[in-house]
Amino acid sequence: MPSLIKIVLPALAAAGFAHAECSVSATTTVQNQGDVAAMTTCATFSGSIAIATGTTEDIALGSIKQLAGNLVAPPNSNIRRISASDLVNITGEMNLDGLTRLNGVDFPQLKSVNSIKWNALPNLQNIGFTAQVETAKKIVIENTAVRSLKGINIAQAEFLKIANNQFVNEIKMQLGNVSNSLDFSDNNKAVEIELTNLIWANNLTFRSTGSILVPSLTKLNGSLTLSKNGFESFAAPNLTEVGEAIAIVGNDKMKNISFPLLTKVNDNLQIANNSALGEVDGFPELKSIGGAFDISGNMTEVNTPKLDNVAGAFNLQSSGNISCSFFQNLKNKKLIAGKFFCSGSLENPSVAGTSPKSQNGQKGAASTLSAMTGALGLAAMAAVLLI
Ligand SMILES: *[C@@H]1O[C@H](CO)[C@@H](O)[C@H](O)[C@H]1NC(C)=O
Ligand SMILES: *[C@@H]1O[C@H](CO)[C@@H](O)[C@H](O)[C@H]1NC(C)=O
Ligand SMILES: *[C@@H]1O[C@H](CO)[C@@H](O)[C@H](O)[C@H]1NC(C)=O
Ligand SMILES: *[C@@H]1O[C@H](CO)[C@@H](O)[C@H](O)[C@H]1NC(C)=O
Ligand SMILES: *[C@@H]1O[C@H](CO)[C@@H](O)[C@H](O)[C@H]1NC(C)=O
Ligand SMILES: *[C@@H]1O[C@H](CO)[C@@H](O)[C@H](O)[C@H]1NC(C)=O
Ligand SMILES: *[C@@H]1O[C@H](CO)[C@@H](O)[C@H](O)[C@H]1NC(C)=O
Ligand SMILES: *[C@@H]1O[C@H](CO)[C@@H](O)[C@H](O)[C@H]1NC(C)=O
Ligand SMILES: *[C@@H]1O[C@H](CO)[C@@H](O)[C@H](O)[C@H]1NC(C)=O
Repeated sequence: MPSLIKIVLPALAAAGFAHAECSVSATTTVQNQGDVAAMTTCATFSGSIAIATGTTEDIALGSIKQLAGNLVAPPNSNIRRISASDLVNITGEMNLDGLTRLNGVDFPQLKSVNSIKWNALPNLQNIGFTAQVETAKKIVIENTAVRSLKGINIAQAEFLKIANNQFVNEIKMQLGNVSNSLDFSDNNKAVEIELTNLIWANNLTFRSTGSILVPSLTKLNGSLTLSKNGFESFAAPNLTEVGEAIAIVGNDKMKNISFPLLTKVNDNLQIANNSALGEVDGFPELKSIGGAFDISGNMTEVNTPKLDNVAGAFNLQSSGNISCSFFQNLKNKKLIAGKFFCSGSLENPSVAGTSPKSQNGQKGAASTLSAMTGALGLAAMAAVLLI
């Protein structure tokens, strides 16, 4: 049985007024055919539209070109398709949440929306934004079945989170800057992320990705987190400064990290649990760390030739045969201000605050560092290690 197409229009609009301005003061909730007036002539609809949880039919938003309000669809296990053939602009949010059967979001003309919030859309594979959304301040897409983000190609944003979308295997955007948070976490493990135009961002998180390209990234005002990624190498060839912390944790296959121009990390630099990382030599210009420098693993070399200022603690623990003389020298000159621990040939190298055993059975001295929670926690690290 073909599903019915429902035409949603405001009760206040009168038939026959092409390009009418229709305005309602509150949210119009649409549920069934009876709610829908037989009018398709609103060019601008001012007011929000909510699709009732009991709606079973497809919803088509007639000839609305601009929605000055929100489009909201709360959890609903029946609706299959939401469309708006003429809609160009949504000034509010497009919020689709818990629509378990939804398999079509068709907005072929949409160019601009204030925010997109999608969650729990397990049957949505394609984003039907044919004209491509190029303007959006905030985008959160979580727990969907989308294959690619084609259709979303914004140049700048405040907040972008793409997480737990198991099938997304490619993300390419013209994105130039993100002023608050940019987060790609736990999508398809092989996901290839290419942000060739990204110049600056605030907090940037890559978790469980397959590859990352950020050739133009110059500055992060906040933190960089690389965790549980599957790649063998990561490079930020143009990055010069990080406003807060860097955490590179649990990237099992990573053999090479490269930050050739990075001079300054204003908070902690943590490198831990990257079991394939034999040499940390990708910080040739790094001079200053405003927090703690915390490295653990089984590397045989940590080389930061220009480093001359660590404001917090220093912890280097390795199971490999590592030389501490460079860092010990910095500590002796008081260029490392916080607590100091450096040792190779440890049985159980770990993050600052843990108490390692050396391979000859002696207890290390790192227990003199303040206790830490161990798990990745940039904020916790900042609090503890800066003392
Ligand atoms: C969307 O509508 C708002 C309000 O009318 C307007 O300021 C904005 O420029 C429009 N954006 C686009 C891309 O049409
Ligand atoms: C952010 O990026 C956009 C697109 O690349 C650019 O037009 C804009 O000037 C940038 N803004 C800032 C503050 O860098
Ligand atoms: C981040 O740094 C860039 C480049 O220095 C600057 O233009 C931007 O205003 C900063 N953004 C925030 C949110 O501080
Ligand atoms: C960036 O991330 C750090 C660590 O998680 C957090 O403390 C900080 O508040 C974040 N900054 C912004 C602007 O979100
Ligand atoms: C790297 O940064 C420099 C200086 O800001 C800039 O001229 C250059 O185009 C950037 N390279 C890339 C690949 O974006
Ligand atoms: C690590 O990566 C950088 C940048 O991609 C590259 O220049 C360098 O040769 C690599 N080092 C190793 C040992 O693979
Ligand atoms: C580090 O130890 C792990 C587990 O023992 C091993 O698989 C890996 O090859 C070692 N990595 C290096 C760089 O020695
Ligand atoms: C560790 O490296 C140093 C310097 O290369 C060397 O003299 C020493 O024999 C090595 N120790 C072990 C146990 O391999
Ligand atoms: C490293 O791995 C160990 C064992 O899985 C875990 O307990 C620890 O929290 C991890 N360290 C960090 C900094 O995530």
